[in-house]
Amino acid sequence: MKDTFGRKITYLRLSVTDRCNLRCRYCMPEEGVCLRPHGEILTEEEMVSAVEAAASLGVTKLRITGGEPLVKRNILSICRQCAQVEGIGEVCVTTNGLLLPRMGKELRQAGVKRVNISIDTLDGEKYRQITRVGELAQALEGIQAALELGFEKVKLNVVLIGGFNDDEIPALTELTRKWPVDVRFIELMPMTQGFPPEAFLPCTAVLERLPELESVPGQGGTARLYKLPGALGNVGLISPVSDHFCGSCDRLRLTADGKIKPCLHSEEEFSIKGLDREGMAARFREAILAKPQCHAPLSYAQPSHAGRDMNQIGG
Ligand code: 5AD
Ligand code: SF4
Repeated sequence: MKDTFGRKITYLRLSVTDRCNLRCRYCMPEEGVCLRPHGEILTEEEMVSAVEAAASLGVTKLRITGGEPLVKRNILSICRQCAQVEGIGEVCVTTNGLLLPRMGKELRQAGVKRVNISIDTLDGEKYRQITRVGELAQALEGIQAALELGFEKVKLNVVLIGGFNDDEIPALTELTRKWPVDVRFIELMPMTQGFPPEAFLPCTAVLERLPELESVPGQGGTARLYKLPGALGNVGLISPVSDHFCGSCDRLRLTADGKIKPCLHSEEEFSIKGLDREGMAARFREAILAKPQCHAPLSYAQPSHAGRDMNQIGG
C-alpha cells in the first residue's frame, strides 16, 4: 500500500521485546530502564497476526528487533511463524550477537535469512564502556557463528561516535577484507541524551578518513554503499541525521507493546493490542496514511521526538 506521498510501504520492523542483555549508552538511559510490564507486551499470536495484517497490505520484508530479540523466550517460534506468513519474502534479525553461538543454528532453521550484528568497537575496554556490561569476545564469537552458519548476509552495525570510535574507522572497515560482511556506519541519533555535541559526526567523516573507498552504484536501502579495493563486503553509510532518507522511507515500526509508529522520530502511535487480524489491518492502514512526509530536523540541540528510548522502538 502507498502512503499519501506515494511511498510504497513494504518493510516492517517488529520489536519483540524492550529487554536486552546489554545497556548501550546511545540506546538506553543511564539508570532506571523503563521496561513495560509483561501484560502490555503483545502475545506471540498477536505478533504473528500483526505480521499477517501488515503482509495483507503489501509488506514483504520483516526485520525482527528489540531490545535484544534473542533474549525473548519464544523468539524461535515467532521467527518460524513470521517466515511462513504469505507475502513475507524475507525475515531478518538485528542483534547484538551475544546469543548467536547458542541460538544461531536454530534461528537459521527457523527461516531467518540475514542478521545485522551491532559492534561499535574492536577494543574490549571500549566495548564494555559503550555497552556498560558487555564482553567484546562474546560479540566476536557471535559474528563468527553467524559467518559459519551460512546466513545469506551478515552486516555489522557501527554507531559512529566522535571521540569514541572515529579512530577505529580504518580497523572496522578493514573487517570487510577479512570477512564476507558489510560494515555499516550509522550516525548517532540524538535520542537519549548524554553525549557531548562533538559525539555527533556525519558519515562523511568515514569518507574523509578513507579516500580509497570506492562508490558502489545501486541501492543499499538506507545506506550509501562503498567498497575498499579487493574487499569481500561493502561499507555502508547510513546518515539519518545529516542526510535523512524520508523521501524513500518504505517502513513502519511495531513496538513490543503493540504500537505502530509511522515514523521513528514522531510520537504518533497506533495501538493494535487486543485487536484481531482485521482490526490490526485497519490500524496499519491508518498508520500508513498518517506517515509524515518528513521528520523534524535532528541535531544535538533538537533531539528526536520519538517519545521512547531506542530499546523500546528497535532502531
Ligand atoms: N543512534 C543510532 N543508532 C542507534 N541504534 C540504537 N540507538 C541508536 C542511536 N541513538 C541502533 C544501533 C544498534 C541498533 C540496535 O539500533 O545500530 O545496532
Ligand atoms: Fe541492547 Fe541493542 Fe540497545 Fe545495545 S543497542 S542496549 S544491544 S538493544
